[in-house]
Amino acid sequence: MRFGHFDDSAREYVIERPDTPLPWINFLGCEDYFAIISNTGGGYSFFKDARLRRLIRYRYNNAPPDTGGRFLYLRDDDPALQPSQPRYWSPTWQPTRQPLDEYECRHGFGYTTIRSKLAGIETRARYFVPLGESLEIWDLTITNLRSEAAHLSVYAAVEFCLWDALDDATNFQRNLSIGEVEVVDGVVYHKTEYRERRDHFAYFASSEKPTGFDTSREEFLGPYRGWDSPQAVETGRMAGSITHGWQPIAAHQVRVHLNPGEQTGIRFILGYSENPQGEKFHPPGSQTLNKRGVAPILARYLREEAVESSFQSLRSYWESLLGRFQVSTPDVHTNRMVNAWNAYQVMAAFNLSRCASYFESGVSRGIGFRDSNQDLLGFVQLAPERSRARILDLAATQLPSGGAYHQYQPLTKRGNDDVGTGFNDDPLWLVLSVAAYIKETGDWGILDERALYDNRPGSEEPLYGHLKRSIQYTLDRIGPHGLPLIGRADWNDCLNLNCFSDTPGQSFQTTTNKDGKIAESVFIAGLFILAAEEMVALARERRHEAEADAFAKAADEMEQAVWGSGWDGEWFRRAYDGMGDPVGSSGCAEGQIFVEPQGICVMAGLGIEDGRATRALDAVADRLASPHGILLQQPAYSRYYLHLGEISSYPPGYKENAGVFCHNNPWIMIAEARIGRGDRAFDYYLRINPSAREEISDLHRCEPYVYAQMIAGRDAPTYGEAKNSWLTGTAAWNYVAITQWILGIRPTYAGLEVAPVIPSSWSGFDAERAFRGVRYSVHVERLGPGNTVGLEVDGQPVEGTIVPLPPAGKHEVQVTVRLR
Ligand code: GLC
Ligand code: GLC
Repeated sequence: MRFGHFDDSAREYVIERPDTPLPWINFLGCEDYFAIISNTGGGYSFFKDARLRRLIRYRYNNAPPDTGGRFLYLRDDDPALQPSQPRYWSPTWQPTRQPLDEYECRHGFGYTTIRSKLAGIETRARYFVPLGESLEIWDLTITNLRSEAAHLSVYAAVEFCLWDALDDATNFQRNLSIGEVEVVDGVVYHKTEYRERRDHFAYFASSEKPTGFDTSREEFLGPYRGWDSPQAVETGRMAGSITHGWQPIAAHQVRVHLNPGEQTGIRFILGYSENPQGEKFHPPGSQTLNKRGVAPILARYLREEAVESSFQSLRSYWESLLGRFQVSTPDVHTNRMVNAWNAYQVMAAFNLSRCASYFESGVSRGIGFRDSNQDLLGFVQLAPERSRARILDLAATQLPSGGAYHQYQPLTKRGNDDVGTGFNDDPLWLVLSVAAYIKETGDWGILDERALYDNRPGSEEPLYGHLKRSIQYTLDRIGPHGLPLIGRADWNDCLNLNCFSDTPGQSFQTTTNKDGKIAESVFIAGLFILAAEEMVALARERRHEAEADAFAKAADEMEQAVWGSGWDGEWFRRAYDGMGDPVGSSGCAEGQIFVEPQGICVMAGLGIEDGRATRALDAVADRLASPHGILLQQPAYSRYYLHLGEISSYPPGYKENAGVFCHNNPWIMIAEARIGRGDRAFDYYLRINPSAREEISDLHRCEPYVYAQMIAGRDAPTYGEAKNSWLTGTAAWNYVAITQWILGIRPTYAGLEVAPVIPSSWSGFDAERAFRGVRYSVHVERLGPGNTVGLEVDGQPVEGTIVPLPPAGKHEVQVTVRLR
C-alpha cells in the first residue's frame, strides 16, 4: 500500500494523506540554519548544532506522534456558524487532526508545501530556508472558495526550546525560571539566557499586522489543554501574555477577510540572529535586546517578491547541484534515486551528520568521525569545496596516536570526551575519504594542508602525515593472529568484544572491561588493505617510493593474516573474541556468518582471482540474502552473550542482531560488481531501494524516498519494517554502489573510469557527469552478455576503461562504451 507518489518531473514526493505510518520528513536548509519538517508541519529547527542551538521543541516519542513544531490554525470567526461547520482546524492536519476535505504534502528539495481544503477554504503553506539566511519562511496562501465572504483568523505558533535541547528536556530547576521574551511591533523575540552569556536570540514575525499575540504557553493553550485545542483559538481571544519563565512560545493571530474567490498571502518568519558582544543591548546600558540587525531582514523577507525570488534561487541551487550527475537507465527506481533523492539524502547526511540526520533526537551525537568520512564518499561529487573543509575538520579531531575522537560537536569542532576514542576502524576511513576527494578533484594539494591533532595549537602536520598515522595506528595494534585489534568496536558498534557488561545502563561503546589485547577484527583487516592500497597510490604520486613499498608490504602481510586466520573455508570470519575464539565461523552456535567482512574483503580485492571471493558471496546469497535485503548475520543471537556485547542485546532480527543494515548492503553490491555479477548486484540494490519498496509502505513504514538505517530481518516479528530513516552512512554507500560500481562511472586518480556491471537484461544506459570541470556524456550499449568494455572517446577507440583527462580548455567529452 502507498501513501503517496513520486512526481519525478517536479522532483517532489507527494504525500496523499496525512496519517503516514511515521512522520515522513524533509530537511530544509543547507548551510547554518536547518529545519526538520514532517508532512504535518512537525519538527524542529536549529542553528548549526541540533543540540546546542535548538530553536523550537519537538518530542519525537510523544503521543500522538508528530505533535509539535510549526503550529497553524484557521478559525472561522463567523458568529452565526452552523454547528455542522468546524470552528477551527489545522491546515496541516496536526495538531487538531480535524478531518480535511483535501490534503497534499509535497516534499521537494529544501522545501515542503502542504496544501489542504476544508469548509470551502483552501490553504497552501510552503516552508523553506532561503540560501544564505538564518531563518525559515512559512509562506501561506489562503483562498476563499465559498460563495460568500469568509471572516477568518489565522494563528501561527512555535514553542521555543531554551537552546540546549538536552538541558531543555531535563533541567527543570533552572528552566522553569529563565524563559524571557520581548514583543515589539508585533514581532516576538525569544531571548532566554541573553542577559548573560548568549549573544543570540530567535524571533517570530508575521507579514500582516497581528491582531493578537501570546508568549505564555499556558495562556495560549489554557490549563491542561494541548496544542490540539488551544483555548485562544477556540474562543478567538488572545491574552497578549508576556511570559516570565515557564514555557515561552510565540503565537500570532491575524484576521483575514476574503470575498468569494479571493486569495491572500501571509508570511511568517522564524529566525535566528546574533549580536556582537559590545552591541547586545539597545539603548546601550539597558537590558533591552538590540533588534537592529533583524529589522532589514524582516523588511526584506516579509515582502512577497523577495520570498518568491529566494525560493527560485533555492530551486536553481538544487538543479545545478543535481545536474552534476544525471542518468537515464531502463529502471525508474534507479533513475529517481540517482538523479534526485539519493543525492539529496547524501547532502542531508553530509550537512547534519549524526547530530541531526538522527533527527528523532538531535541531542545525543555530534559529527561522527567514521560516519562522516563515509558520507564524504558520496558527497565529494556534489560539492568538492565543502568536502575539503570537512576533511580538514575531521583530521583536526584525530589524536597524535593516529586514533580519532569518535565524534565531535559541530559548533565547537572539538572531540566529544564522553564518547572518546578507541574505535579502531575510525582513522582508516579518513584515508578513504581523502582518496575519494583527490580522485574526484585532482586536488593533490590537500595532502600538504596542515591540520591540528586534537585541535591543539602547535600540533599541525600536513594531512599526508595524518594519513600515515592512521595506517600506523592499525599496525601498532595487531593481535595474536596478526589481525587488527578491534578496540571498543569497529564499523559494527554493537560487536563489543572487550566490554563484558552485566550492569544495566552501562554504555556498550564506552565500557571496556578487558585490556583489549586479544579481540581482533577481520573487518578492520579488509578496511586496512583498502586504505593501505590508497596510500600506495598517494605515496607513489609524491615519489615516496620507499613509503609506497612499505604500504604495499603492509597490505600484503595483512592479506596473509586474513587467509591464515580470517578465512573460514566458505566465507570470511568476522572477528576473534576476547578469549581468542572466532566470531562468524561455521563452528559458532549462532552468528556463523556476518555480512561486513564478505563485503569489505572482496572490495579490497581478496580472493577475486582464486574464486574464494565468489564462494564468500555465494554464502551471502545462501545464508544472508532475504527479500527485504541482506541480513547482518545469521543465525541471529537468541540470547545475551556477555562476551559479544550489544549485538546480542537486541531481540533477534533487529538492528545489528540480524537486521538488514542498509549501510552495509551496498558493500555486497560493490563486491558482486567486482566479481562481475551485475544481475545479483542490481537485485540487491533494488531490494532496499526505498522507491522500489514504495508499494509496501504500510510494511516498510519509513519514507519511500530515503534510505532508513535498518529494516527488520526475518527473525523479527515485524520483518520488513524500516526504522531510523535519513541516518548517515547509508545514502552515500548506496550512491557509490549504484553510480560507481553498477553503472560503473567512477573517478580514479588518472581520469574518469567507465566500467559498468549492469544487469544482463539492460540494453544500456546514458549518463551525464561533471568531473573536474568537464562534462562527460556517457553512452553505454550492450552488445553481448558480459562486462568487457570497448571504450570510445570522442569517436576514437581507447584502450582500457579509463577516459584520459582531456587537454586544458576542453569542456565536453563524448564517451561510448560497448559491452560484450
Ligand atoms: C537547588 C539545588 C540545591 C541548592 C539550591 C540553591 O535547589 O539543588 O543544592 O542549594 O538550589 O542554589
Ligand atoms: C550506527 C553507527 C555507525 C555504525 C553502525 C553499525 O549507525 O552510527 O557508526 O557503523 O551503527 O553499528
